[in-house]
Amino acid sequence: MPLLLDSPLDMHLHLREQEMLRLVAPFSAAQFAGGVVMPNLVEPVDSLARLRAYRTAITAACDPVPFTPYMTLFFREYSREELLAARDAIIGLKLYPAGITTQSEAGVSDFDRIGATVALLEELDIPLLVHGETNGFVMDREHEFLATYQWLAETFPRLRIVMEHITTAEAVALLDRFDNLAATVTLHHLMITLDDVAGGLLQPDLFCKPIAKTPRDREALCAAVFQGHPRLLFGSDSAPHPRHKKECCGCAAGVFSAPVALPMLAQLFEEADCLERLQGFVSTNACAFYRIIPPPKTVELQRKPWRVPEQYGTVRPFLAGRELRWSMPDKQEQS
Ligand code: DOR
Ligand code: ZN
Repeated sequence: MPLLLDSPLDMHLHLREQEMLRLVAPFSAAQFAGGVVMPNLVEPVDSLARLRAYRTAITAACDPVPFTPYMTLFFREYSREELLAARDAIIGLKLYPAGITTQSEAGVSDFDRIGATVALLEELDIPLLVHGETNGFVMDREHEFLATYQWLAETFPRLRIVMEHITTAEAVALLDRFDNLAATVTLHHLMITLDDVAGGLLQPDLFCKPIAKTPRDREALCAAVFQGHPRLLFGSDSAPHPRHKKECCGCAAGVFSAPVALPMLAQLFEEADCLERLQGFVSTNACAFYRIIPPPKTVELQRKPWRVPEQYGTVRPFLAGRELRWSMPDKQEQS
């Protein structure tokens, strides 16, 4: 029996530009009705003009497959006029602490100065999406950032805040203390721990920010997702880098999971005996929190094994070489 999903959404996605955009966007368009597109391009997407041009490029890269790019602006100090003008074109602002990850140098270096812009977001009902890591010890960064999430959630109670790509048991617990918090969870953080990244020979394909954590953290994420927590949203954080930027001295952070996202999620949910909860995780929860109605698009998965290619263009995908149980009809299985 095929598995049918109504308008699945990827609520955290890096599509890049130019040739890389044209290589990776079709994987997301094949599997999802839409996705939240991250603004950390080489030159950040921090103006409405750049955002509109980027949106056009994304739609062209997906053509002829329909895919709704839910656009984000890179967080900086914005005026009310700028935010009012952008409001209908964006799903939110994405805040990066300065230098915390790929192309985030223009991010926030002083959290004492963000209050005015965040207050405007609350007033204008524009969600705030946050890369929640400090620049402390790598395993403690998310833990150390929780105080900032708590401050945001308490100080701006009507602001909708998305804790992006959470990786810890503690972050799941914080979600339950504030109704105005939601969180995205990636596929890879449901599957790997630090041991997979660095426990044996170093695995550049699995190196990402935030770094994968402990077995206990992974289990807490899985438990909450598989139990159908209504404010956990799927966001792949698929972040392609060419092999020469991964397999070198100074490996770039990012897992390219777009080609395997839905098939592998279906397998995980099936193994956890909760396949009926996949729809909530990949669509319903996001629609409710973000108050969006994506264009109708039924995506079908078939129970037919396929082997993930070793490489797509210049990029190695997550789970390269692995056989997966569920596949997308045609295209990918031919690869
Ligand atoms: O691993 C990551 N890669 N984490 C991020 O936050 C950014 C992303 C990228 O853009 O490559
Ligand atoms: Zn990301």
